[in-house]
Amino acid sequence: MTIDSRLHDDPLWFKDVVIYQLHVKTFFDSNDDGYGDFPGLTQKLDYIQELGVDCIWLLPFYPSPLKDDGYDISDYTAIHPLYGTMQDFRTFIKQAHKRGIRVITELVINHTSDQHKWFQEARKARKGSRKRKWYVWSDDNTKFPDARIIFLDSEKSNWTWDESAQQFYWHRFFHHQPDLNFDNPEVRKAMLRVMRFWLSIGVDGFRLDAIPYLFEREGTNCENLPETHALIKELRRELDKDYKNKLFLAEANQLPGDVIQYFGNSDECHMAYHFPLMPRIFMALHQENAHPIIDIMARTPHIPFDCQWAIFLRNHDELTLEMVTPDERDYMWKAYAAQERMRINLGIKRRLAPLVDNSMKQIELLNSILLSMPGTPIIYYGDEIGMGDNIYLGDRNSVRTPMQWSVDRNGGFSKAQFASLFAPPLMDPIWGYQALNVESQLLDKSSLLHWMKTIISLRQQHQVFGRGSFEFISSSNQKILAYIRSHEDENVLCLANLSRYPQFAELELSKFAGITPVEMFGQSAFHAITEEPYVITFGPHSFYWLLLKR
Ligand code: GLC
Repeated sequence: MTIDSRLHDDPLWFKDVVIYQLHVKTFFDSNDDGYGDFPGLTQKLDYIQELGVDCIWLLPFYPSPLKDDGYDISDYTAIHPLYGTMQDFRTFIKQAHKRGIRVITELVINHTSDQHKWFQEARKARKGSRKRKWYVWSDDNTKFPDARIIFLDSEKSNWTWDESAQQFYWHRFFHHQPDLNFDNPEVRKAMLRVMRFWLSIGVDGFRLDAIPYLFEREGTNCENLPETHALIKELRRELDKDYKNKLFLAEANQLPGDVIQYFGNSDECHMAYHFPLMPRIFMALHQENAHPIIDIMARTPHIPFDCQWAIFLRNHDELTLEMVTPDERDYMWKAYAAQERMRINLGIKRRLAPLVDNSMKQIELLNSILLSMPGTPIIYYGDEIGMGDNIYLGDRNSVRTPMQWSVDRNGGFSKAQFASLFAPPLMDPIWGYQALNVESQLLDKSSLLHWMKTIISLRQQHQVFGRGSFEFISSSNQKILAYIRSHEDENVLCLANLSRYPQFAELELSKFAGITPVEMFGQSAFHAITEEPYVITFGPHSFYWLLLKR
């Protein structure tokens, strides 16, 4: 199979891209039914291209009862009719590729919806029969007691009784999402077929949803088991067999030591999210101290050269606090989610801009860290314009409101009747679409959107950000986060003032003595580096990217 000639032929492409994460439902409605759709998304590809990103991660768009925003799939190889047709999807892929934008989709393999025909057949099939064994059943609900409950706010157990089957079935997430039984070779084969189906349509890779939980074994916490890694290796062999330049991205919300197992020996996933880094960036900002970031990076092991971290500030889920200590969690809740309704499970259901009280300086600072730390950055749709959230909406829907395009009706997202929209657009005086939308930010040259375009384009001009090594620089001032990225003959010194007040710092840069740093946004030369500590001053929440070239 040849790759699309408009996309450059490089197996490590995923190291150089900036990813834009979106749900087709929330983006743009082309047929006025209140739901975003693929023709709508295709119309907005120019916007995405102009933003400067070159990879789209699509949230699930398959047929589904939508009780978990589509992560409850009832048919793996079709498009939800609300979002368009298979032809619409093919057109979207073609148009994205034409613009040099790759598309990664979701492979939700841990569980299905209880409406999936596999589950309907399993519950009706004879106990112990082949069909029944597509899922995980038990006569009692006491097995695997060491497996934690993930959706603490909605589920009491990982087992639910099924009347028709007269057995309990196993689920790590919502009770309407039964876990597939990967001990059954038929299930494994079915998943390989699903993967091949989407590859043949042209998707560039898959996010492997909820990947740590595929197997259950007594006496373990049923996470990260050796059987899971063996299965991922099997999927990877299939991925590499007939296709070039494809990607697996592991969603494993675990500590770095466990996550790196998902890279295997470069024979499992190409990328994995760095979940523990994200809350520590917010912690460092609030404490005005670089320590939380330095500490978690010190605990991050090296990864194979052909693998990459995926890093993010916010996404479609709660800002997860699963991978922090109970004290750190209490701190984060107090700092960023003062009201009870801002919290869900072990996390915070708010968007980026409201988390920092709409401070432009802090949004810029956080993005400068996101776009310069080691890994491939992911931007959540709407965060490029500083969209707000609606904490009154249930589940994690607070951060999944319609994209705000203009001051027109429904924020330009849809011409449907307000009551037919999948969710209300934001309408308050600060975050509402009248005050905050793409159209006005395009007109306003000082807007966040323009700033985002500039910083993304700057990153895209320097491979060092995606591929370079990473090293902290010793700073006399704990409020200054300082690190250096290096690749071939390029070194970029990244400095961030986490404090809301002006600061100065002395940096140990003697190995670069003789070099004159050049600030990358404005090309201004700073004072030359000598053997002595490098003295530098900062405005509140300011940052520098300094090119050090001999
Ligand atoms: C992943 C998704 C989340 C979903 C869960 C269960 O964690 O990110 O949105 O609810 O899987 O499918």
